Amino acid sequence: MSILRVNKISKVYGKQPVLDRISFSIESGEFVGIMGPSGSGKTTLLRSLGTLDRPTYGEVWIKDESTFELQQENLSVFRRKKLGFVFQQFDLLDTLTVEENILLPLILNKNDIPSMKQRLQEVTTDLGIENLLKMRIDSLSGGQKQKAAIARAIIHRPDLLLADEPTGNLDSKASREIMEIFNSLHKQNKTTILLVTHDPVIASYCDRLLFLKDGQLYNEIYKGDDQKGFFQKILDMLALLGGDRRDFYTINFPKYDS
Ligand SMILES: Nc1ncnc2c1ncn2[C@@H]1O[C@H](COP(=O)(O)OP(=O)(O)O)[C@@H](O)[C@H]1O
Ligand SMILES: [Mg+2]
Repeated sequence: MSILRVNKISKVYGKQPVLDRISFSIESGEFVGIMGPSGSGKTTLLRSLGTLDRPTYGEVWIKDESTFELQQENLSVFRRKKLGFVFQQFDLLDTLTVEENILLPLILNKNDIPSMKQRLQEVTTDLGIENLLKMRIDSLSGGQKQKAAIARAIIHRPDLLLADEPTGNLDSKASREIMEIFNSLHKQNKTTILLVTHDPVIASYCDRLLFLKDGQLYNEIYKGDDQKGFFQKILDMLALLGGDRRDFYTINFPKYDS
């Protein structure tokens, strides 16, 4: 079953086309990545699919529901029932505890308290963050913040988990931990995931990669059984795409302790 269907979406800012007639679909349980140089339209695409932005043309269906037909006031309800978001900047609420942040979608959806508590325990045990629940956001490390953000993004069992450069603000150790979490959500929980990254190491966790160039879908590749060959294919594709190659590697350079 298709979880996401995208039909010729375009996004135009002024006269500038940022997305140009993009079509693809994602089946239930797939782990798909979107790659492309900086400025190629990755974030705009993800936001358009997640109803945070409205495409100028074209249509998006999530589980056979056309997001185009949803009115503004229904969009936020739709998002917090059907979708989960993970961003590079974590986007947690600093004035709330970890627990309150994670529970937010369930509170807004007016779930009952026993089911909220049970679900909170499940996701936080899965992610190994039970001990952080009473802590405030500003006392957490980047990796801990992103784990809390992932817990918030999956607590309501969304149909589709969308992530935009989720390791973009993390060092390589925390990045690996976060990617292992995505991997386990994919393998164990069969969560359908769409992740944006410009990092080939991060991208190699995905089963399928879509490449964007100047707002157009340029190509796609599948991992299949050949993990090693897949990584080389990613590097080859990035070389083909051109742009500044250094840009693709910035995330994996070691971070200096100031
Ligand atoms: N709100 C906006 N108004 C005008 N131009 C935008 C806006 N958002 C993004 N863009 C432009 O769209 C292009 C793609 O941006 P973006 O989707 O952020 O790319 P990526 O995530 O691949 O780096 C860039 O040229 C950017 O300047
Ligand atoms: Mg971006």
